[in-house]
Amino acid sequence: MKITVLTLFPEMFENFLNTSIVGRSLQRGLAEVEFVQIRDFAPGNYKHVDDTPFGGGSGMVMKCQPVLDALNSVKTENSYTLLTSPAGKPYNQQKARELCKKDHLIILCGHYEGMDARINDHVDELVSIGDYVLTGGELASMVIIDSVVRLLKGAIRDTSTDEESHENGLLEYPQYTHPADYNGEKVPEVLLSGNHAKIREWRVMQSLKLTKELRPDLYEKHEFTDEEKKILKKYDL
Ligand code: ADE
Repeated sequence: MKITVLTLFPEMFENFLNTSIVGRSLQRGLAEVEFVQIRDFAPGNYKHVDDTPFGGGSGMVMKCQPVLDALNSVKTENSYTLLTSPAGKPYNQQKARELCKKDHLIILCGHYEGMDARINDHVDELVSIGDYVLTGGELASMVIIDSVVRLLKGAIRDTSTDEESHENGLLEYPQYTHPADYNGEKVPEVLLSGNHAKIREWRVMQSLKLTKELRPDLYEKHEFTDEEKKILKKYDL
């Protein structure tokens, strides 16, 4: 897959793209990331990419012309374009799964106090990574790239993502490693039992319990499997 990032600050991505699973996946050629400097599309010596808002108000707004010229320089029939914005649709694992199937993903990083709203009509989707305001879309863009690239075939072992938090709409069960007793803090007995059916049941139970406690919003809309219903009843959750 090819990912094109339109930004004023490509240097923010350097370490991120060279590190860990994303770095390795790019080195292996599972994905290619290219940058387009929006400022290169601004005219004149000053290369202004922003201007004051019509109707007044504080701050500056990014102009249509440099942003859309930058976008049109890379957009093809196969492209899917995202604009990062705190006013976008909440980003989640399901969206990451959808995006990892695209041939060409374009991420337009919003910046300054905002973008001219006419730009919205030139992208497929506005996405927000959470209910808070960042100074720019670069961090949001890295979040999206990270969550998408790790899902590409060959990035990590196929089975590693299956039971993660959010993959089945629930939070993941707790994990432990050696030692079984750390200064008196013991790993749950069942995990040392070697009884795979019991371990699975415990994990599903923990997953349900944690989600109910920490993410009632996810729990409410979860469609319980037969196995989960049985476990809910058994443990009186
Ligand atoms: N730009 C600023 N805040 C953002 C957010 N929460 N998500 C995506 N892009 C943003």
